[in-house]
Parts: sequence; structure tokens; C-alpha cells
Amino acid sequence: MKSFIIYGASGYTGELIAEKCKELDYPAILAGRNPDRIRPLAEKLDLPFRVFDLDDSSKIQSSIKDCFAVLHCAGPFVHTAEPMARACIAAGVHYMDITGEIPVFQTIHSLDGEAKKAGVALMPGTGFDVVPTDCAANMVTARCKNATDLDIAFFSLGQMSRGTMKSALLQMPNGNRIRRNGKVESGALLKLKKTVRLAGKDRTGFSIPWGDVFTAGISTGIGNVTVYSMVPGLPVFMAPLIRPFTGLLKNAGVQSFLRNRIDSGSAGPDEKTRNSDRSYVYARAWNSANESEFAEVEIETMEGYRFTVESSIKVLEKLEKAKGLSGFLTPSMAFGSDLVLELPDTKILRQLPN
Ligand SMILES: NC(=O)c1ccc[n+]([C@@H]2O[C@H](COP(=O)([O-])OP(=O)(O)OC[C@H]3O[C@@H](n4cnc5c(N)ncnc54)[C@H](OP(=O)(O)O)[C@@H]3O)[C@@H](O)[C@H]2O)c1
Repeated sequence: MKSFIIYGASGYTGELIAEKCKELDYPAILAGRNPDRIRPLAEKLDLPFRVFDLDDSSKIQSSIKDCFAVLHCAGPFVHTAEPMARACIAAGVHYMDITGEIPVFQTIHSLDGEAKKAGVALMPGTGFDVVPTDCAANMVTARCKNATDLDIAFFSLGQMSRGTMKSALLQMPNGNRIRRNGKVESGALLKLKKTVRLAGKDRTGFSIPWGDVFTAGISTGIGNVTVYSMVPGLPVFMAPLIRPFTGLLKNAGVQSFLRNRIDSGSAGPDEKTRNSDRSYVYARAWNSANESEFAEVEIETMEGYRFTVESSIKVLEKLEKAKGLSGFLTPSMAFGSDLVLELPDTKILRQLPN
């Protein structure tokens, strides 16, 4: 394999990806803004490293231009994705990231034309958000040709990393997001709910601003997309009590208090949890003019952070071999909806119609 950069390698997820690359003997170059965090990791894993921040595009370009791709793991991506993606386009280097933030998908999508001219692939969302859901969405769309609507849901017992919680916290003041008639619209958090059979039980959850609200609209062409999370820790009856307080998330003091609470927590799930927890992803496409036209799929797969490591490395492997990929691509647009089934410990649990 040709060399690639893992930027943000000192973070919880970046380090897991770096460790896996070392295990596979892949030529990863670790990178980040802080030498005191990158150097010890590079020494521990015996991998090369580079230190640069994201303020100066020419510095980023000169630091990445000898690599075939950057796997960007430094989030919250609202602060980091655009400078890295622009530098990738200027340097002729493929861009991947593990974001789940809708505004980031929108920004990267806006660079589609420039990336196509440069022959650079832009692939945001190569982790748990959005690989399994994007693949599931495209599986059901292929089996329901006249679909007008798409629901996606997922269930996972898993704990979130500090970086994921901070990224989600930054997005919460924007409220919920759904796609209606092709447009991404805002709404209240903890309002729109749905019950879905997942992991063998009926589970109720709320619509959330997950990346597929943007990406599945692009990769399936369906105008109405809603994503639900079946959160195990949040009893559904509590939602109306909590909802009035979600407005407080716009307050800078509340944001800062919650960020400090997150910082005092653990970096992310431990190895035992990553190797034992399971995740379940569901998609249903249907034709609103004729509800007997529908397709459903449920996929069982790995815990979210183990998934993110495996799926990002799978995408890197495929991107290196692919010819002529350029512009904004979702995982299933680039490599087909069976991409998810190529990952370890992943299978279709049920499909309708059979
Ligand atoms: N799609 C998915 O399913 C998925 C899965 C896992 C993670 N993620 C996302 O990935 C991101 C990282 O998560 P994590 O748990 O690994 O977080 P983390 O442990 O907090 O690590 C964050 C990393 O980003 C770097 N960073 C942050 N802001 C930066 C900036 N302005 N410039 C340069 N580097 C910066 C940090 O560098 P320093 O060490 O210098 O602070 C650190 O290396 C989050 O946005 C998370 O939501 C998504």
C-alpha cells in the first residue's frame, strides 16, 4: 500500500486506527497539531510522524503531498474538516474523514466540483456514521424502485467517546434535522419518535441529526429521510420533560459546563466493550403513494468504534486500488452497498420482502 496520513492520530479513535494500521503493517504516517501527543504515540508504535496545525494551507499541502490519502480523525470536524479538505484538493490527495456532523457533510459536498477537477475523492463519514446506514439505505432503495421515503434507525448499547460527545454537543443547539422534499430541515429534538424491531425487540427512539439525513439523500436520491436512534439509556416517557430544556444547549455557559463534564469522563469504550458490544442498523424505503411497495433490512455489526476502525481501513484499501474516483462520494456511492458486508462480524439479520 502507498503511504497515507492519519491526522488527529493522538485522539481516541485516531489512535485505535493507528494501532490497527501497525498490526496490518500498513505505511501509516501519524500526524496532529501537538508534538507532545504525536511523538510518544509514533515512538510507541514505531511509525513515522508529522506535526502541523490546520491554520496554514501551504503547510498542510507540503505535509501531505507525498501521500495518496488523508484519513482525517481530528474532530469536532466543524473546526477542522474544511481546511484539510481544501488542502487535499490543492495537493491532489484523496480526503477521508470520520465525521457525523451534517454541516460538515454539507461543506464537503460544496467542494464537489473543485475536487472533480483535481481528480480528488472526498469521502466524509467513513466510520459508524455513515457506512452501515448508508449501505443499508442503498440496499432497500435498490429493492424499492419507486421509493419516496426512507427511515433509518440504529441501536447500540455502546458508550460514546469524549470526541463524539463534544461534536454532538456543538450540534445540539441546531436542533434536530430531517430531509423533506429534498431539503434538510430543522425541528425540535426529542419529538419525532418511531418504534422499530431491532435486535429481536420492539424499540422506540427519537429522530436525531445523524449524517445520513444529508448523505442518504445524495446516495439514494430519496427526498424524505429521517434517522432514529434507539437510545437505551433514555426512557421514552422522559422526553417531554427534557425537551423544554434542550433550548439551554444554546447557552455558552451550559456548553462550557457540559464540555468540562465530558473532559472529566473516560476517553471512550474499553477494549473489552469494543470487542463484545454489537450494533444494529435498520432501513426501510417505501412509496408513500402505495405502501405495499417497500423494502426493509436489518444488519447486525460490530460496536461503533471497532466498526469505525475496520470500515475506515477498508475504505482506505479500496480507495488506493480504485481508478478514477473523484468528487464527493458516500461510502456506498464509491464502493456499493455490500461494502458493509465485507467487514468482520457483520451480517444481514432480516430483509423484507423475503
Ligand atoms: N463517524 C463515526 O462513527 C465516528 C466514530 C468515532 C469518532 N468520530 C468522530 O471523530 C472525532 C474524534 O473523536 P475522538 O473520540 O477520537 O476524539 P478525541 O479523543 O477528543 O480526539 C480528538 C483529536 O482531534 C484533534 N483535534 C481537535 N481539534 C483540533 C484542531 N482544531 N486542530 C487539529 N487537531 C484537532 C485532537 O488533537 P489534540 O490531541 O492536539 O487535542 C485529537 O487528536 C469526533 O468528531 C467524533 O465525533 C466519529
